[in-house]
Amino acid sequence: MPNSSAVYILGIESSCDDTSAAVLTSRKPLSNVIATQKIHEAYGGVVPELASRAHQKNIVPVVHQALKKAGIEASDLAAVAYTKGPGLMGSLLVGASFAKSFAMALQIPLLEVNHMQAHILAHFIEDEAQKTPPFPFLGITISGGHTQIVKVHAAFDMEVIGETLDDAVGEAFDKCGKMMQLDYPAGPIIDKLAAEGNPKAFTFSKPKVKELDFSFSGLKTAVLYFLQREKLKNPNFVEENIKDICASFQYTVVQILMDKIKKAIQQTGINHVAIGGGVSANSAIRKALLDAEKKGQLTAYIPKFEYCTDNAAMIAIVGYYKYVEKDFSTSQLAQPRFKI
Ligand code: KG4
Ligand code: ZN
Repeated sequence: MPNSSAVYILGIESSCDDTSAAVLTSRKPLSNVIATQKIHEAYGGVVPELASRAHQKNIVPVVHQALKKAGIEASDLAAVAYTKGPGLMGSLLVGASFAKSFAMALQIPLLEVNHMQAHILAHFIEDEAQKTPPFPFLGITISGGHTQIVKVHAAFDMEVIGETLDDAVGEAFDKCGKMMQLDYPAGPIIDKLAAEGNPKAFTFSKPKVKELDFSFSGLKTAVLYFLQREKLKNPNFVEENIKDICASFQYTVVQILMDKIKKAIQQTGINHVAIGGGVSANSAIRKALLDAEKKGQLTAYIPKFEYCTDNAAMIAIVGYYKYVEKDFSTSQLAQPRFKI
C-alpha cells in the first residue's frame, strides 16, 4: 500500500548495456530491476546499435516490473530521475526520452543524473548491507568505462583528482579476458578463476604514471606479448595456466589501484575510501581494501553487490537528493561526455 506522505522516486538507467528501473522512497529501495543484455556476449563487447535497440525493447517491461515490485502505481510517483550521461548516445536517448515522456504524462518533475556521481552516491542508498561514508571521502569509480579518484566534499560537490589516461580498469579485465578466449564481460570470470590461481606465478610490470592518474593500456599489451611468447613455446599455455594467468593479472591490477588509493590518502589526508562501479564487485580489490582497513590505513566503504554494477537504484538516490533541492531538469536530454 503506498503511503500518501512518502516521496516515491522512479530511477531509470540506460547508459550502456543494462536497462534498469528502480523505485526508492526517500533513500530506501523498494525495487531495483535490471535487464542485462546478453546479445553483446557473442561480439565480445558492447555493440552500441544493438544496445539501444535492446533498451527500446526492455524499457517498458522493466519500468512496469519496478513499479509492480514496489507496490505502487505510476500516479504515486513524485518524480522521475534518469541517466543523462556519460554513456553511449543511442542508449542514453532511449532512457532519456522515456523518462521525459513519462514525467510529462504524469505532470511530475524530471531529474537528470550523472552516471558517475550515481556510482559514488550509491553508498547513500539505505540498505543494512552497506554503510554510508561521511564527507569528505574519496570515491573510487572503477568500471568498464571509467577509472577515477574523486574527492567528494558533498553530494553535489565532487572533484576528480585522478583518472585513467587510456583504458578503464574494467576494459583491461574484458580485453585481457578476450585474449584468453573468455566470454564477455570477462571481469567476473577472471575474478572466479583467479581465486584458484597463484598471484605470484607470473610478473607483469606496473606502469609509471604521474600523480594520481592511471594507465592500463601498457598492462594490456604486456599480457598480449606475454601470451604470444608463451604460446610459441607451448600452444596450450593459456588452457594449462589460465588460473595462474588470471590471478597474476588481477594481482597486478589490484596493486596499481591500491598504490594510487594510498597516494590519494597521503595527498588529501582523507582516509574514508568508497568504491563504486562494476569492478568494485571484484573480490581481490574488496579484500585488499579490507586488509588495509585492518591495518588502520583507511576505512573502506564497499557497496552491496547489486549497487556496484549499473543499476537504477543509484540513479534514483541521486534523483532523490536533487528532488529535495528542487534541482529539476531544464535543458539538454542526453550528454555522452557528461562531466561530474
Ligand atoms: O559499472 P559497470 O556495470 O558498467 C560500466 O559503467 O562500465 O561495469 C562493468 C565492468 C565490466 O568491465 C566488467 O568486466 C567489470 O565491470 N566487472 C568486474 C567484476 N564484475 C564486473 N571486474 C572484475 N571483477 C569482477 N568481479
Ligand atoms: Zn557504470
